[in-house]
Parts: sequence; structure tokens; C-alpha cells
Amino acid sequence: MKTKMFKPTVLALSLFAAGASFAGEIEVLHWWTSGGEAKAASALKLTLQQKGDRWKDFAVAGGGGDSAMTVLKSRVVSGNAPSAAQIKGPSIQEWAQEGVLANMDDVAKAEKWDESLPKVVSDIMKYKGHYVAVPVNVHRVNWLWANPEVFKKAGVKVPTTWDEFFTAAEALKKAGVTPVAHGGQNWQDFTTFEAVALGVGGTDFYKKALVQRDAATLSSPTMEKVLTTFKKVKDYTDKNAPGRDWNLATAMVINGQAGMQIMGDWAKGEFLAAGKTPGKDFVCVPAPGTDKAYTFNVDSFAMFKLKDKANIEAQKHLAAAIMAPQFQEVFNLNKGSIPVRLNMPMDKFDDCAKTSSKDFVATSKSGALLPSIAHGMAVPSAAEGAMKDAVSQFWNDDKMTAKDAMAKIASAAKAQ
Ligand code: GAL
Repeated sequence: MKTKMFKPTVLALSLFAAGASFAGEIEVLHWWTSGGEAKAASALKLTLQQKGDRWKDFAVAGGGGDSAMTVLKSRVVSGNAPSAAQIKGPSIQEWAQEGVLANMDDVAKAEKWDESLPKVVSDIMKYKGHYVAVPVNVHRVNWLWANPEVFKKAGVKVPTTWDEFFTAAEALKKAGVTPVAHGGQNWQDFTTFEAVALGVGGTDFYKKALVQRDAATLSSPTMEKVLTTFKKVKDYTDKNAPGRDWNLATAMVINGQAGMQIMGDWAKGEFLAAGKTPGKDFVCVPAPGTDKAYTFNVDSFAMFKLKDKANIEAQKHLAAAIMAPQFQEVFNLNKGSIPVRLNMPMDKFDDCAKTSSKDFVATSKSGALLPSIAHGMAVPSAAEGAMKDAVSQFWNDDKMTAKDAMAKIASAAKAQ
């Protein structure tokens, strides 16, 4: 039975290609609605349609996916789960514990996922040793995106340290542009916060304070310095930042209204979708002080248990398609990320992606490959949510001291 699923006959294949009526439906929940993201999502849709399956888009707008997760919960609770949903990191385990995810071991075995994935990634995709999710890509989160022309006008260089960052920000301000393009939403605040934590505190601090959530490290003088530096960044954002979507912040850098943005490399998808060339119209550099480290964010789709046979078959097509080399290339060229599959040729990718790929390998050896908290890769979702809220409260409330914030974050980090 299982063998049949993966070795379809010529007749079955041609029926699928002709869009035969028994083709299954695949409903996929994601939040890829910005320019670059939508291009990448449509590559997935096309791949599945070419296999003869019906794609039912289930896009819930909202960067970082908070709204998508809320909608997903209510769908699953009402017994109407989609075929697949964009679920990442420790949340995969949380969903699997609920008993709602499907076992994908047969596809994984046939397609050799164990051999094709870095172990740090395949471990995240498995629950009790069984595949329940499929990875799409690797995003690097600790990037700074800059408009070189704006920097040239301000007479400063793109920063590589936090001291240089504030010198540059001052010069950009004097030149009449918004130094830092920011969107005040809690996942964006935390994306900046974790970049500062890594740049100011270093790799060991990041691991101890934010991943292991060690109470002493969260209350240390280094944490205070991190928070003070983080808050200083706010002085260089504009008054319309609260609530702004991340892609609109990227647009400010694209059109020269702002100098730089701290954001993961899905931002590159926006520059590319706007027809901009890396190294010429925009530059990517590791966030200040973080060039020897790498915060990763692996997008993945968790597969839900389904009842309909044709839909189960289609779900397996989806799982196999996501990991196929050709799809990994097309998707990631649009998304700004790099293939998650090992040993993929990188010749079609730009220098930002090549740097990301090289640094991913180097940091996996040096111990500086770190999960992003902001993007759901490191801590249980309850702790992540509480920590994000505490960090954003500090960002928004100009009366709150760094010491108060430390106490709030340390208590939030205990949430399970
Ligand atoms: C991240 C996600 C990325 C990108 C970003 C902004 O959490 O992993 O793929 O979509 O949100 O929406």
C-alpha cells in the first residue's frame, strides 16, 4: 500500500498530470502576504498544481504569524484542521503533543530527509523520533539592511559595531532621513532586541540569558547594558513606527526615506521584488557585532491528520515537493532565505545568500549557530509570548527603567 503511494504507475501519473478528478485538495495555512513572500508562496502553489493537486490558499496576513496562529487554533479546535500549517520550532512539539499531527516517516524515508538535512533542523521536525513537519528554508535573522546612497549622502559608512551604529544614526538624522526603519509590533521589537543582545552580550550571553533563560544572567549587568542599548535605538526611529508592518519599514529603506533596518532576510525578498540589486541598491551586513554568529529561523510546515484518502495523498505530495531540490531553489531565490537541504548549488543565489550559507556552516561548527527567539525557534510559545510583551512594554514606555524591565523579562521567561 505504502510502496504504491510513492511509485505511482504511468497511468496514475498521467491522470494526475491531467488534473484527474481524484486529485486531492491541499489547504495550506501561512502568513506570506508581502511582495517577496507572496512570490515565494506562489512557487509552492504552482509546484503542487503541476502535480495535479488542488491548492486552497489559507493566508492570514500579519508578519511573524501571530494572527495566523490564533486562526489556526480555532480551526483545529473545531475539528477542521488544514492539511498543513506554517508552524516552527518548539511549537511543533506542542502541536504534536495534542495528537493532531500526521506521521510523515514514509515520505521522509523515501526522499532521504535524514541524509539531506542538518541534524539541528531534522531534530526540530520530529516528535518522539518521527517526522511531523517539513522544513522549507533557513532564514538568517541577524541582518542589517542599508541603503548605500543614503549613507553616502550622510557621509558615513554602514556600521559593523554598535558604536558605529549610533554614529551612523546621528549622521543620518542630521541628513534629514529616518535613521532606523522600524515597525512597532512585538515580534519586530524582539527581532531588534535579540540582535542587540547578541551584538552587545555575545554568543554565551545570548544562549544563557535568552535560550536557557537563566535567572542570574537575565539580571546581570550585561543584560542592563543590552536593554539600555536597545532602548537607545528607539531614538532613531520615526513617530509613525508604532504598529507599522515590517515590509512597509523595508519600503522606507528601499525608497531612501530611511537609512537602515534590522530584520531577517525575508526583507531581501522585498528589495528583490522591488527590482533592486544587492550590493548596488541595497547592502546586507550582519547586525552590529554579530558577524561571527548566526540566529536562525527555519520555516516549516507541520502536517495535520486528515481523513480523506485523496487529501492524504496530496499532503504527501506537498511534503515531498517542499524538500525537492528544484523547489528549494526557486522558493528560496524569492523568499530571501537559503535552501535548508544540504549540498545545494548556490550559483544562482546572490552574495547575501552566499554569506548566509557560508556562515550557517561555519557557526554550526563554532557553536555560534543560535535559534531566534523572536521567530519561535528557541523557547516554549508561552515564554516567548510573555518575553516579547515585556520587551515591547520597555520599548514603548519611556518611564520604565532598564532595571524594571530586567525584572519583568526574568519573570516572563519562567512561563511554561
Ligand atoms: C517570520 C517567518 C518568515 C517571514 C517573517 C515575516 O516569522 O519565518 O518566513 O514571513 O516572519 O512575515
